[in-house]
Amino acid sequence: MFDLEKLVRDNVRKLTPYKSARDEFSGKTGIFLDANENPYGNLNRYPDPYQRELKTAISKIKEIDQERIFLGNGSDEIIDLCFRIFCNPGRDKVLTFTPTYGMYEVSAAVNDIETIKIPLNKNFQIDLEKTRPLLSDNNLKLIFICSPNNPTANTMNYDDVEYIITNFNGIVVIDEAYIDFSEKPSFLKLINRCANLILMHTFSKAFGLAAARVGMAFSSPGIIKFFNKVKPPYNISTINQRAALNKLNNMEGIKNQVLRIRREREKLSEVLKKISVVEMVYPSDANFLLVKVKNADYIYNTLINSNIITRNRSNVVDDCLRITIGKRSENDRLIEAFYKLDHSKSGS
Ligand SMILES: Cc1ncc(COP(=O)(O)O)c(C=O)c1O
Repeated sequence: MFDLEKLVRDNVRKLTPYKSARDEFSGKTGIFLDANENPYGNLNRYPDPYQRELKTAISKIKEIDQERIFLGNGSDEIIDLCFRIFCNPGRDKVLTFTPTYGMYEVSAAVNDIETIKIPLNKNFQIDLEKTRPLLSDNNLKLIFICSPNNPTANTMNYDDVEYIITNFNGIVVIDEAYIDFSEKPSFLKLINRCANLILMHTFSKAFGLAAARVGMAFSSPGIIKFFNKVKPPYNISTINQRAALNKLNNMEGIKNQVLRIRREREKLSEVLKKISVVEMVYPSDANFLLVKVKNADYIYNTLINSNIITRNRSNVVDDCLRITIGKRSENDRLIEAFYKLDHSKSGS
């Protein structure tokens, strides 16, 4: 049985959280002499520690109660907080399906948590046979599922993910950083009936706000309370809260941009498939392509020489480059460089 109170680390459950001046008085008008702020300037006041205005807007767009939302300084802060809330250093474990986003393992290591890695199968899907026996390990506290997955670009099978959530008494974190680029449904709907689920979205990808560092977590109100208990009081700056709010006020523009990126993705994928040094372009539900080439190191370096920087992922998927979808002009430059590569290969 999933028991949240038992799952949370003892020290976190017993913790008396820091109370900021804004915790004790959250009214907006008055003479504020409570937070040792400077009375002069535009950015002289501390931000709203609970980002209420931004959460109101998010709650409308994602159709989810505000008490089910937590905002982090990027998803990366949320990942770290998951370890700090649920995992005892030196004792507990996390499960990931590899290859996947590197921060799960790094964040685990920072918190002295062992990472168990189960390789994705040949279709880049979760291997349930290998996963099943681990679900009953009492020291396994967290499972990270990245969907669409970085760097493989595919979404995970719905039934497999649901199986894991319903058969595991720890916390399942689904990272949907790239979900807006996918036609597959989000797992967000499961939040209301799965008490052990944390789902992450971010302003860094579809919203085009990577510089602002705003990540979203959706979960039960009980789990969100623990996030608020352990976070630094003012973890999202006023500037960044405003930047995110501005994006939400222009959803039409965001949707158009996502469409444009998806169209470019399809075009780039079709063109690359016809190039002889390209062996495979994997299907993508994200804003990048995983491309298997004849000699990844050589092609990566040749592209760099043309001033085009891709990500060489051949250390995690054999001879693969991860190529982010850029603007049309940037993608065209990439295509040109690949044509040249093709030409020089055939000429040699
Ligand atoms: C799967 C995945 N999750 C999270 C992130 C980081 O998100 P944020 O910018 O919100 O920290 C990335 C960044 O590349 C990512 O690939």
